[in-house]
Amino acid sequence: MKFKNSEKIYEKAINIIPGGVNSPVRAFKSVKRSHPIFIKKGAGSKIWDEDNNEYIDYICSWGPLILGHNHPRVLNGVKEAIELGSSFGLPTKMEVELAEMVCSCYPSMDMVRFTTSGTEATMAAIRVARAYTNRNKILKFEGCYHGHSDALLVSSGSGLLTDGYQDSNGITDGVLRDTLVVPFGDIEGVKNYLKNEDVACIIMEPVPANMGLIHSEKKFLEEVRVLCDETKTLLIFDEVISGFRLALGGAQEIFNIKPDITTLGKIIGGGYPVGAFGGRRDIMNMIAPVGRVYHAGTLSGNPVAVRAGMETVGYLMENKDTLYKTLENNVQYLVDNIKKFSKLYNVPVCVNSFGSLFTIFFTEKDSVNLLQDALEASEEKYAIYFNTMLEEGIVTPPSKFEAHFISIAHSQEDLDRTLAVMEKAFKKISEMTNVRK
Ligand SMILES: Cc1ncc(COP(=O)(O)O)c(C=O)c1O
Repeated sequence: MKFKNSEKIYEKAINIIPGGVNSPVRAFKSVKRSHPIFIKKGAGSKIWDEDNNEYIDYICSWGPLILGHNHPRVLNGVKEAIELGSSFGLPTKMEVELAEMVCSCYPSMDMVRFTTSGTEATMAAIRVARAYTNRNKILKFEGCYHGHSDALLVSSGSGLLTDGYQDSNGITDGVLRDTLVVPFGDIEGVKNYLKNEDVACIIMEPVPANMGLIHSEKKFLEEVRVLCDETKTLLIFDEVISGFRLALGGAQEIFNIKPDITTLGKIIGGGYPVGAFGGRRDIMNMIAPVGRVYHAGTLSGNPVAVRAGMETVGYLMENKDTLYKTLENNVQYLVDNIKKFSKLYNVPVCVNSFGSLFTIFFTEKDSVNLLQDALEASEEKYAIYFNTMLEEGIVTPPSKFEAHFISIAHSQEDLDRTLAVMEKAFKKISEMTNVRK
C-alpha cells in the first residue's frame, strides 16, 4: 500500500496546522506512524484516502456514523436542507421537531438545548448545574473525557491519554481546584467528596469509552444516583458516545437510571455538528432567555446539521427493534473470534465490548475496569495491530485508549475480511513479541 499523497499533504500540514491535524488523536503518533492518512471520501462502511487506498472503517468519525458514511436517507435530507439555506440565526421548525424526538427517547429530559459540539454541551450543562445548586465544585472520574472545556480537562481520557498526559496546560489553579476527581467505580471516593465538599454536580460517562471501553456496574450507577439525591448534587450523564448508540435511550435506558441532566452529541448530528444538553424543566428553565444562565451559538441548531440528526434519529427510532441487536451480534462475532486468535497465537488480550463498541486491550489481565488497567495494556502490541490492519485496508482507532465503532453498514463480508486481517495481526504480534520472552 502506498501513502505518498498523504505524506505530501502532511508535510504541508505540519507547517500550517499544529501537529498537522485539527484533533490530536488523528496524528497517529501513539501507533508509531510518521504521518496520518488523509481521507478523501466515505460510503457505507468504507473510506478512501488521498492515495485511493480503500479501508473498512472502524472509527466511523468517532461515533456519529452509526448508519455508516453518507447513508442515503441522511444524504437526501441534507441535500434538501442545503437547498433551503445554510443558516438563519433564527429558529426553525426542524429544531423543535428534533427536540421532540430527542425528549421522547430520553424520559429524563423535559427540555433540551442544541449546541454545535459535545464540548459545548458538557460545558453548558456544568454551568447550569452550578447555577442551580449555587455551588462551585464538580466531580468527574479519572480517564473519562467530556470535551475540551477547561473544567473538564483534568484527569482526562481520549487524546490526552493517547499523548501520555491527562491534565492540559493553560488551565487556572482556580479551575483545577474546583474539579474533583475519583477513579471510576470508587463509590467511597464519591461519598467522601459529596459529604465533605459543596459539589454542584457529578459528570460521568455512564459507560466510559475514552480510556478504551470500560464496563460499568449498574449497582455503582445506582449508588451514585442515591448519593446525589441525598446531597442535592446534580447528576449529569454524558451520553455523547453512548446516547442513541447503546440503545435509543442511551445507557440511562439500559440501566434504568434517570440523570438530572444529559449531554448528547455525535449521533444526534448524524455526522454533522450537533450537540445537546437537556434535563428536568426546573433546571433547564434557568437558561437564558428564561433564566440567567447564558448559553448561545451562531450555529446552534443549524438547519443542515439538525436535518442530518433528524434523519439519523428517525431511522434509529423506526428500526430500533432489530438494529441494536444486530449491531451487538456483529460485535460479539468479532470479539469471539478475537479471543480465539488470542489463544491460538498466545497473545493475551482483554476485550471489552458493549453494543456496537469494543476495545482490545493487549494485557495479561482478565479484566480492564480502571484507568490504571488501561494504562498498563501494551502500546507496542497495539501499534503492531493497528499498523497491520491499516496496511491491509482496515482502519482501527489509532490509540489503545479508544473504542472501535461499528455501523449498520458493516456487512458480514466486511466482518469476515476484518477477521482475516486480525488473524494476521495476532500472528505478527506473536512473532514479534513472544520471541523476546
Ligand atoms: C463522552 C464524550 N463527551 C464529550 C465529548 C466532546 O464532544 P465533541 O468532540 O463533539 O466536542 C466527547 C468526544 O469524543 C465524548 O466522547
